[in-house]
Amino acid sequence: GGKGKGNPRLKFEGLPPSTADDVVVPKGYAHNVVIRWGDPVLPGAPEFDFENQTAEAQEKQFGYNCDYVAFRELSRDRGLLWVNHEYTNENLMFAGYTDGADIDPELIKVSMAAHGGSIVEIVRDRKGGWRPSKGKRRFNRRITATTPMRITGPAAGDALLRTEADPEGTEVLGMLNNCAGGMTPWGTILTCEENFNQYFVGGEGAPEEAKAALKRYGVPVEGDTRKDNRRFDRVDERFDLSKHPNEVNRFGWVVEIDPTDPDYKPRKRTLLGRIKHEGANTRITDDGRVAVYMGDDERFDYIYKFVSKNRYRKGSRRHNDTLLDSGTLYVARLTGNSPAEEFDGSGKLPSDGAFDGVGEWIPLCTEEESYVDGMTVAEVLVHTRIAGDKAGATKMDRPEDFEPNPVTGKVYCALTNNSAREPGQADESNPRGPNKHGHILEITEAGDDAGATEFTWDVPVVCGDPADPDTYFAGYDKSKVAPISAPDNLTFDKHGNLWISTDGQPGELGIHDALHAVPMHGKYKGELKTFATVPVDAECCGPFITEDNKTVFIAPQHPGEEGTVEEPTSTWPDRGAFPRPSVVSIWHKKGKDIGS
Ligand code: FEO
Ligand code: CA
Ligand code: CA
Ligand code: CA
Repeated sequence: GGKGKGNPRLKFEGLPPSTADDVVVPKGYAHNVVIRWGDPVLPGAPEFDFENQTAEAQEKQFGYNCDYVAFRELSRDRGLLWVNHEYTNENLMFAGYTDGADIDPELIKVSMAAHGGSIVEIVRDRKGGWRPSKGKRRFNRRITATTPMRITGPAAGDALLRTEADPEGTEVLGMLNNCAGGMTPWGTILTCEENFNQYFVGGEGAPEEAKAALKRYGVPVEGDTRKDNRRFDRVDERFDLSKHPNEVNRFGWVVEIDPTDPDYKPRKRTLLGRIKHEGANTRITDDGRVAVYMGDDERFDYIYKFVSKNRYRKGSRRHNDTLLDSGTLYVARLTGNSPAEEFDGSGKLPSDGAFDGVGEWIPLCTEEESYVDGMTVAEVLVHTRIAGDKAGATKMDRPEDFEPNPVTGKVYCALTNNSAREPGQADESNPRGPNKHGHILEITEAGDDAGATEFTWDVPVVCGDPADPDTYFAGYDKSKVAPISAPDNLTFDKHGNLWISTDGQPGELGIHDALHAVPMHGKYKGELKTFATVPVDAECCGPFITEDNKTVFIAPQHPGEEGTVEEPTSTWPDRGAFPRPSVVSIWHKKGKDIGS
C-alpha cells in the first residue's frame, strides 16, 4: 500500500445532465455499438428476427439486458468480451405480451435463453472502436438458464442442494439474474446471481420449515405466487417450489467461468455464500492469498468478504481453480466514531467533520467450521443472510458493487439508496433516512492488508444534487461537481479515479442514468464529472476500462423499460421499432487515455 500517490485529475469536459434517447460522450471522444441483443455469437446463429423469435436462435445469439462487462486482452487489438445478461423485459421483447401465464411456451424458452452471459471475441478497428471478430471465434460462448454448472465448495452435495433431478446436489442447470461481477487475478470471470427469487413460484406449497428462509430471500410464500411472474415453471417444473423446494437453493451464488476455455463447466462457488450477490472483486493479501469483496443488494442487508486459505500461484490454472473452495467467509460490522445522537437522518456532517469509524470482519465459517450458533457450514452458506443476522452485521443501504483502488489499495462499495430507512434508523455509515440518492463507502483494511479482520471506513461521497445541503463530495467545492444518484457499478482506471455508473438517477433527479468519474485521492478528490449518459429508461451498466486505459465499455441496460413493443419509449440504438440492450465502446479520438 501507500504507493503511487500524486494528484490525478480528470481533464475531460464533464457533460450536462441528459434527456436524449442516445448515448452521449464528452468532446473529443467517440463511441460505437459493439454488439446488440440478438446479434450472432455462435457459429451458425441466424440473423435476429424480432417477429419470429425461437429459443434455438436465441441460444446462439447475444442475450438481453447486459449488466457486468469485462474484457480480457488476447493481443493489442483483440480480446474476449464477457457480458452478463441479467434479466429479460418481455414487454419489450414480444409483441402483445401480457403475462407469463398466457405467453406461448416457446417464448418462455426464448427468455430463458436470453439470460446468462456471453463470451464474444472482439477486435479494435483503426478508429479505436470495437466490433465482433469475423474470424474463427473459437472462444465464443453463450451461457443460459439451462447451461450445466458444477456446484463446488463445502455446501456441494448437502441435503439443502439435492433435488429429484440431481440427487447428488452437485450439478445445476443455468444461472439467473447475473448482475455485476469481477475478474480474478488468474483471468477468470466471477459473475454473480442477484434477484433469483423472482423466477420461482409455488412458495405457498413449499414445506413449512423452508418458509422462513424463503421469506428472508424475498421468495413469495403466500398469496398468488404465479402472478406477475415469467412462469419458467410452465416449461420446466423445477421452478415450482411446491414440487421442488430445494431448486431455489441452487441459485444466488457467485459463478466462476474461464473465458479462455470453451469447455469449462461453470462453477457455483458455495463458500462465497448465497445472497443477492451484486458483484465480486478481488485483492491479493499481503501473504499472497485472495480476498473477494461482495455486497448483498437489498435494503438493510450486508457486506461480505471471503479470504482464501491458500495462496494464489501465478500461471497455475489448476491450483487457482481451487482457491475459492477453501477459506473464510466474513460479514462486516461498522461502528461510527461520532456520538449516535448526531445522526438524525438529515445527512448533516457530524461535529468531527466526517462520516467515519472502525469496522470488523466477523467470521461466519470456513470450509470446515461454522462460527454461527446452531448453523452448520452448509446452512451458513445456503442461508448466509440468516447467518449475517445472527452475527450482528451492520444493515446497509443496498450494497452494490465493490471495487479496490489499484493505486491506494482502499476498497469502495456503492450503497445505492434505501427509501425504507427511517430517520431514527440513520447511523454514521448510513447517515440519511430515507436515503434517496445513495453514497459511497471507503474501506481501509488494517495495515492495508486485504487479509485483515479489522478496518477503518469513511464516506467520501454522499450523492444527490450538489445544491442540496445533505450531499458531500469529499469536501470539494460543490459548485464544481455534477449531480449523481443511485450509484451502482464501479470500476477504477489506472490513475486511481473511481468510475461510477448509476441505476435509478432518473427517478429522483429527472435526468438519465450516467457514467460519472471522480478522483479518490489527491487535491481533486471529490471533483465528480459526468462522462457518458444513456438512452431513455436505461440504466448504465458496465463500466469496464481496458488494461491499456484506451477504452471504456458501458452497457445501457433495459432502454425503453417503461414502454412496450406497441408503445416504445426508446428506439435506441437502431432507430427502428424497438430498443435493444447493447454494449458500447467509448474511446478518445486522439488515442489518449480514458478520462483525459
Ligand atoms: Fe442488478 Fe443491484 O443491481
Ligand atoms: Ca465521525
Ligand atoms: Ca447493479
Ligand atoms: Ca465493477
